[in-house]
Amino acid sequence: MLTDDLIGALRCPLCAAPLARAETALRCPAAHSFDLSRHGYAHLGTGRKLPEGDTPAMVAARTRTLPTLYGPLAEAVDHELMDVFGGVFPPWHRDQQSEGAPLVVDLGAGTGFYLARVLEGWGEAGGLAFDVSKAALRQAAKAHPRAGAVLADTWGTLPLADGCADLVLNVFAPRNGDEMRRVLGDGGLLLVATPTGDHLGELRAALPLLKVDEAKERRLPASLPQFRQTGARTVRWTMDLSREQALDLVGMGPSAHHVDLSGLGGQLPDRMEVTAGVFLSTWTGRPLPSRPAGRGTRR
Ligand SMILES: C[S@@+](CC[C@H](N)C(=O)[O-])C[C@H]1O[C@@H](n2cnc3c(N)ncnc32)[C@H](O)[C@@H]1O
Repeated sequence: MLTDDLIGALRCPLCAAPLARAETALRCPAAHSFDLSRHGYAHLGTGRKLPEGDTPAMVAARTRTLPTLYGPLAEAVDHELMDVFGGVFPPWHRDQQSEGAPLVVDLGAGTGFYLARVLEGWGEAGGLAFDVSKAALRQAAKAHPRAGAVLADTWGTLPLADGCADLVLNVFAPRNGDEMRRVLGDGGLLLVATPTGDHLGELRAALPLLKVDEAKERRLPASLPQFRQTGARTVRWTMDLSREQALDLVGMGPSAHHVDLSGLGGQLPDRMEVTAGVFLSTWTGRPLPSRPAGRGTRR
């Protein structure tokens, strides 16, 4: 639910001023107004054309798949957060100016599955899920009682105050290093999950799917010059899938945007074992020379 505390971290996407609830909208002092959808998310688009997000069919496949097949990744996220901070969870030493509850921001959050899991382990924290897919945001808005959902293009300027986030999550989603660094508080943590080269390899061998970029892992530091890497682990597990589950895995992924998936079921056996591989890395922000004024500071 988008509580007033969470709204306190949001900024007007047009003029960067703080936003406040005004009936069924969020409004800034300059009277820029943004709808609060009846499905529970805030629409903070700037009016520019938005990138294509996941379709309702992709989101439905993701909703069926993550709780049954992606538990090992959610557990690995928990472990990584514990390890980086010596087993103390929540681990952040928040600076003295920090006000309000800690904030977790999930960029390209999809259904909010991982955000909800992190909030579950972190009693006081609130969470904001950002995505451009309305179908995903409907799910994310109800993923956890302390989570709110926001429609915004994460390639653009995020409608968030400088340094408002204690933890930024980026799981299988677009990465905008400059903006992730701007919104992460000093001493906060960025956690990134990317597929390994062999992720869903057996499905890729059987079907005409998009390839995973094998150099992605190596290129990650170069794509995040604003951050210093503090930890990494590779998580691999085997999934014993029915044909329907295999099709859901394909249907929730990027190939669903590019490949006609109808009729692919005939190319798959009744059951098959498929490898999942994810590279999890954690990062802290490099010092910022000076924060440009304009988007406010912490809540
Ligand atoms: C592969 S899904 C991952 C979702 C979620 N993190 C998970 O792992 O379950 C990528 C998500 O990023 C969203 N997305 C793609 N481009 C985006 C953009 N420019 N801004 C915000 N979200 C975007 C998609 O709609 C989709 O929900």
